[in-house]
Amino acid sequence: MEFTFAQYEESAAAIRQRLGGFVPQVAMVLGSGLGYLGDQVEDAIVVPYGEIPHFKSSTAPGHKGQLVFGRLEGRNVAVMQGRMHHYEGYSYEAVSYAVRVLRLLGCQTLIVTNAAGCVNTQWKAGELMLITDQIKMFSESPLRGENLPQFGVRFPDASQLYTPRLRHLARQAANELGITLREGVYFYCYGPQYETPAEIRAVRALGGDAVGMSTAPEVIVAGHCGMEVLGFTLLSNMAAGILDQPLSEQEVLDAGNAAREKFSGLVRACLRKL
Ligand code: HPA
Repeated sequence: MEFTFAQYEESAAAIRQRLGGFVPQVAMVLGSGLGYLGDQVEDAIVVPYGEIPHFKSSTAPGHKGQLVFGRLEGRNVAVMQGRMHHYEGYSYEAVSYAVRVLRLLGCQTLIVTNAAGCVNTQWKAGELMLITDQIKMFSESPLRGENLPQFGVRFPDASQLYTPRLRHLARQAANELGITLREGVYFYCYGPQYETPAEIRAVRALGGDAVGMSTAPEVIVAGHCGMEVLGFTLLSNMAAGILDQPLSEQEVLDAGNAAREKFSGLVRACLRKL
């Protein structure tokens, strides 16, 4: 166990001091190239990760590395503009540290977003996917080590990590906006190298529809501490080997930019319905 309960509380207390009585309800993690929504928060209070005790910094491109607290669609939100990844050298516990801190601050709901490779050949790059479930079985759990019972039980259920009620709201929101919303399984891979074509065939055989390097650890931790979770993937590129072309980080960031109105519109519509 890397962090004690007291450390989580210390981080929460340091943030609380900056919030002047504001209590966030909905935590949001914005992935590669998707930080845009954080800039739309009203009455924003910005807290850089570097100013929060025990927080790691976010070094990935398209990740600003700050928490933005404020109002969005009438909800009190806490937006993580940029997340931590295991490939940056952090443990899974460190990667998901912020989720527990946001839970202590009052958030009951977590909305996660990411960019990922599209494994399902029926779909197209640029489309959005509602995450119905995830696979992260080849790497250790963020809950490894002594359990902190203040957050949850030793052996938490994971049969409904992505809350059915919220998935239903997301479907309705996409329908109303006329947005095509695919539904599928997010398969976690370590990175930072993109996958090989053989790995993608394996991912498909195992039931993955999208492949990415984030999200799954945070969602396990959120489920452990009793948060409701809603997850969206921007299918930023066809996964390795599907098209006869190499993958690039630029392609992922460009896809994020191109989809930002559609993506933020959908997330905002979901916030209104929460
Ligand atoms: N693989 C893994 N992570 C990703 C990809 C991908 O193809 N695209 C965006 N993030």
